[in-house]
Order: sequence, then C-alpha cells, then structure tokens
Amino acid sequence: MAWTLTVPPRGNGALTVAVPRSPRQGARNELAGSSTELRPRPDPFSRRDRAAEPTAESSRRRSQPSELWGWIVRAVVFGASGLLGRSMMRAFEDWKVTGTSFRRKGQGLVTVDATSTDDVLNALSRFEPGVVINCVGERRPEAWANAPARAHELNVEAARLIAEAARHHGASLLHISSDYVFDGTEPPYQVDARRNPVNAYGRWKLLAEDAVRRACPEAVILRLPMLYGPVEYAAETNLTQIARQVGSGEPVELDDVCVRYPTHVDEAAKVCRWIAAQSKGQYPGSIVHWSAEHRFTKYRMGLMIAQHFGIAPDHIKAGAADTASGDRPDDCRLDCMDLRAALGWPVDHYRTFANEFPQVVAPWVRTA
Ligand SMILES: NC(=O)c1ccc[n+]([C@@H]2O[C@H](COP(=O)([O-])OP(=O)(O)OC[C@H]3O[C@@H](n4cnc5c(N)ncnc54)[C@H](OP(=O)(O)O)[C@@H]3O)[C@@H](O)[C@H]2O)c1
Repeated sequence: MAWTLTVPPRGNGALTVAVPRSPRQGARNELAGSSTELRPRPDPFSRRDRAAEPTAESSRRRSQPSELWGWIVRAVVFGASGLLGRSMMRAFEDWKVTGTSFRRKGQGLVTVDATSTDDVLNALSRFEPGVVINCVGERRPEAWANAPARAHELNVEAARLIAEAARHHGASLLHISSDYVFDGTEPPYQVDARRNPVNAYGRWKLLAEDAVRRACPEAVILRLPMLYGPVEYAAETNLTQIARQVGSGEPVELDDVCVRYPTHVDEAAKVCRWIAAQSKGQYPGSIVHWSAEHRFTKYRMGLMIAQHFGIAPDHIKAGAADTASGDRPDDCRLDCMDLRAALGWPVDHYRTFANEFPQVVAPWVRTA
C-alpha cells in the first residue's frame, strides 16, 4: 500500500494524506449470503427534512481555521467514557472535541444512546464534527454470554447508525474494530486477510465492519488487538484483572496458549489522531491495522507481574486456552507494516509492554 503525505502551508492549506485502497483490499464479505447478513433497511433519515441536510453554514463551521495544522477539526468521540475513548479524548484535546458516554457521567461528556437514531443525529447536528470516532462497543465476555442481543446492538447496530449519521452530516468516520475478526490460525494478518471469527464478539465486529462500509464507504476502519492502560476498575482490562489475581496470592491458572499483543491505549489513540488528521480533506475508505509487536500469553503476563513486584509465582499455573466465554483465537497478530512505515515515528516513540505495564498494574497489585 502506498502512502503519500502532503503537509499543508500553515494557515490555509489542507492536510491531505492519500491512503489509497490497497490492491490487496478486496470487497470480500465472508458472511455475505449467510443468515446473519444485515438486511436492507429503510433509510433512517428519510423522515428528516431539508433542515437536517448539511448547510453552507455548517460546512463553513466544520472547516474554520485553528492553530492545529492551520485547520480546525471538530471531532465527536462516541464512547468517550470507555477505556479507549478516555485516551482518545486526551489525544484529541487540542482539537475541538466532544465526547459522548451512556451510563457514566463525566465532566464535559454528553449523554448519547448510540442505539437511538435520534440521539446520534442530534449529537452530530449539535456539534457539527468534521471527524467522528466510534469507540462504542461491548467487549466484555460476560455481556456476550448474558445479554447477547444487547451486545449485538452495541457492536453492530450502533456502528451502523453512527456510520449512517456521519455520512449524512458529511463527517469523516474512524471506526474501531478488532483483531478478533480473524480466527488466529494464520498470523500475521494483512488488512485484506480472510476474516473468520471464532466467537460471537468477532462475528459482531465483522458484521459491524460490513455495516460501516455499506453505510459510509469512505470510513476508515482500524483494527486493534488487546488494549491496556489506565483503568477505572481492575476488571476493565485483562491485564489489570491478571494483576489482581497475581497480587491476591490465591492459586490461579492462566491461559498459556492464546497469544496477545497488548497495546497501550494512549499509543492506539495517538495513531487514531494521526489517521484522523491525515484523512481531513480526503477520506480513504481503508482498513488499517495497529498493534504492538511483543507477544505474551496471559500466563506470561502474570509471571512478569509477579517478577516485577517481587511476588513468589508458586500460585500461578500455566493453563489451557480460556474458553469460559467462547472460543478464543490462538494468535491474531496484525500486520501493521504499512501504517508503521507511514507514521515514520522513531523507535523510542512506541510504548513497549515491558516498560509500561508496571505503572498500569501497580495500583491493582498493591490493593489486592
Ligand atoms: N479494549 C480492548 O482490548 C479492545 C481491543 C480491540 C478493539 N476494541 C474495540 O475498541 C472499541 C472501544 O473499546 P473499549 O475497550 O474502550 O470499550 P469500553 O471500555 O467497554 O467502552 C465502551 C464505551 O461504549 C459506551 N456505550 C455503552 N453503551 C452505549 C450506548 N447505548 N450508547 C452510547 N455509548 C454506549 C460506554 O459508555 P458508558 O460506559 O458511559 O455507558 C463506553 O464509553 C470497541 O469497538 C472495541 O470493540 C477494544
């Protein structure tokens, strides 16, 4: 995939990075024709009158000059109260960014139900973003099992609604997907590799990708692996959950089969910001991958935590693949060479797991 970057003249130029569709990126739809394929729906915007259409004023406001690159981008982050969304708000803090949440109330967050057409459209009408980032999702395995219809709604229907609304408002969309669209048998996965999810979450993320692509062909879809970073509660990430188990001293068996590529949320959010900035003015309609390089099983992470905090590891046992909430892919390593090359960041720009995990898990090891 070829990338070209044109840095604009300060003050009045457009930043355009062409991220052309890779020849490898086919329009393959592995679930096409299956019973899970989304059926055509009535246009949810058909009852809107012309006042809801983008106006000259709204277009002007979307492209007002600012101090950043000579252009403003008004951004709306859906799901800004979540793990990735919180980092996203930090990464975009020098833009004019609005974050939405649902259950959680936070300073400056706007309550939006992303499964409601009216809520989503109203948010975009009100904030007139040039860029929309969708971090809404349900990734907790217990929710897949206990409330699958709701999880489907959040992962697939909300994605479709946000994509339709972004297109309707003429905003660029960055949609977050997952490495779980792959089956984990043939890593590394190129962006156009055959998707073959092995569990419900992966299937929903696949359906969401297709729904987003149909509703908003220009959207960028970014696939990410397991994320870690500052959490609000231990169960919010696998890593902090493991830290709590390791710190408790109670016997614990951790999956030593499935490998993960734990990626710091702040790094993922920075990549999103980079993509969003490049996409201003020209939307590529691409799928891109981002992932850290180093691989660990949950068991290995547990041992690293024990070693770092001087905890005897006798209570930590290597276990089989964790299938309590459905099958897990063995190794979904994402090939992200194209994006790494395009970013051109120096090596020390990346956050390595070995350097970052102690700070992230410390509060949860010590209070366990
Ligand atoms: N975390 C990972 O390891 C990982 C890895 C790969 C990809 N991803 C993908 O990255 C995206 C973000 O994941 P995350 O880990 O940040 O998820 P998260 O922490 O569970 O956050 C989910 C967000 O969705 C919001 N939300 C829930 N119900 C909503 C509704 N009805 N309307 C509007 N918003 C609603 C939540 O708001 P409230 O909490 O305020 O209700 C929260 O802000 C998801 O698409 C996920 O699939 C995550």
